[in-house]
Amino acid sequence: MSYAIYPSLKDRTVVITGGGTGLGAAMVQAFSGQGARVHFLDVAEADSIALQESLRHAPHRPEFQRCDLRDVEATAAVFSSITDRSGPIDVLVNNAANDDRHQVGKVDAAYWDERIAVNLRHHFFCAQNAARSMRENGRGVILNLGSISWHLALPDLSIYMTAKAGIEGLTRGLARDLGPYGVRVNCIVPGAVRTPRQMKLWQTEESEAKLLEAQCLRERIEPEHVARMALFLASDDGARCSGREYFVDAGWYGA
Ligand SMILES: NC(=O)c1ccc[n+]([C@@H]2O[C@H](COP(=O)([O-])OP(=O)(O)OC[C@H]3O[C@@H](n4cnc5c(N)ncnc54)[C@H](O)[C@@H]3O)[C@@H](O)[C@H]2O)c1
Repeated sequence: MSYAIYPSLKDRTVVITGGGTGLGAAMVQAFSGQGARVHFLDVAEADSIALQESLRHAPHRPEFQRCDLRDVEATAAVFSSITDRSGPIDVLVNNAANDDRHQVGKVDAAYWDERIAVNLRHHFFCAQNAARSMRENGRGVILNLGSISWHLALPDLSIYMTAKAGIEGLTRGLARDLGPYGVRVNCIVPGAVRTPRQMKLWQTEESEAKLLEAQCLRERIEPEHVARMALFLASDDGARCSGREYFVDAGWYGA
């Protein structure tokens, strides 16, 4: 197989949240491979530093900054430091999340707030920070990572699924409000992706077979399949795409 190069992504400033591992790391690699200036934020320091090091020969070495996205003020300061160093932000990928399971009866208000902070709130505030320079530039792309989970009604994930459903609504709202300034906002909805965390949590021969039976395509989704959708939507090739969801789920139709 051979894959596209997008000349419009070369030298663009791209911010990726949760870029240290999993899908985010695949996006850091994919955008760096296109010659973009990638900044990625994460709390996973060791993985992020290793990723940055592994991409030191990219046209622009990606830059990692430790940032706990639950802290809205600290996140704003990190965005300011990025624009001070690299100029206006062209692309924001809101990717960080945490899908820890929870049982309805055991959730209290503090846990609810923390889950919403890690899975939803930072999408809005990172978009707010990035939109400042995008509006000035008259162009920009924001990509939010949703999830197939709530479309399928998976168990023990009610707060995560609430956040992910909210992200689709947020995508529509931001697309409407920022569209007049040339900013496109879309949501990528992954299916079951073979990330290191998911493989560690769930992989058994039985679960793999069951999953493949529930997908139209009988092949697993790798992180780079999702990253390639992000490249297309972020590039000028996606010029008239905004306010919508784009599924990369191999046609997953049921759990
Ligand atoms: N992997 C899948 O099958 C799948 C399916 C559907 C949706 N998604 C979505 O895709 C995105 C990426 O998923 P993934 O599987 O790579 O997740 P992951 O858990 O493997 O990685 C998430 C990254 O976000 C970082 N992060 C978590 N909390 C943070 C915080 N407070 N501040 C900064 N960074 C933080 C983590 O350290 C990690 O590097 C998420 O939005 C997820 O909900 C993934």
